Amino acid sequence: MRRIVIAIDGYSACGKSSTAKEIAKQLGYSYIDSGAMYRAVTLYFLQNYVSLTDPIAVEKALKNIEIDFHPNSKTGANETYLNGIIVEDEIRKMEVSEKVSEVSALLEVRKMLVDQQRKLGKRKGVVMDGRDIGTVVFPQAELKIFMKADMHVRAERRQRELLEKEVMYDLQEILDNLQKRDEMDTSRKESPLRQAEDAHVVDTTHITFEEQVEEIIRLATSKM
Ligand code: C5P
Repeated sequence: MRRIVIAIDGYSACGKSSTAKEIAKQLGYSYIDSGAMYRAVTLYFLQNYVSLTDPIAVEKALKNIEIDFHPNSKTGANETYLNGIIVEDEIRKMEVSEKVSEVSALLEVRKMLVDQQRKLGKRKGVVMDGRDIGTVVFPQAELKIFMKADMHVRAERRQRELLEKEVMYDLQEILDNLQKRDEMDTSRKESPLRQAEDAHVVDTTHITFEEQVEEIIRLATSKM
């Protein structure tokens, strides 16, 4: 069986990450959460008061950022590290979610992260999720998935996910954030979120997690 690249793009909180993680596990592939990389850069910018309107400051800050993924010793799941420090929980907080679409619209940020993402996927056998994976990062990916779901369903799922991490947010606050990010991610100049022509659409509004995983595994196996 040949090893392939599986690109999963779609709107915020459609279940891309959990689906991609499970698919990678079942196929013995590595999973890369490209959104976590944009979130880690955003966290660094917030911590260091980097002005997004100052291109020199942005460029200087990017030189000081190193993002890695290391598996959790108990679960084996990849966790995000920023300059050697684990930031997996911190990057999911609302302060970061509020700012990340602004940061990810910057060309310099995208250049740096797309470059790293291509290196991470070079050896194939990878599932990567994000907004531009099938269109920009790996336009030659053997399998492209575009995930979507009803906005309310997405907000409720995200609220549950955050609660599991013992973080409580109002549903309306989550809804507003998802709407705002979708709007910014689809309308930005650099690599806007859009469905690749050859992507398979998976609408997760009415299907279970197991069903969506099964469908993508079936599609993936047909390409191997
Ligand atoms: O996937 P997640 O929701 O964690 O991504 C956070 C944000 O990072 C997105 O709203 C988007 O602004 C940005 N992003 C991006 N390109 C990617 C992945 C994420 O612009 N490939």
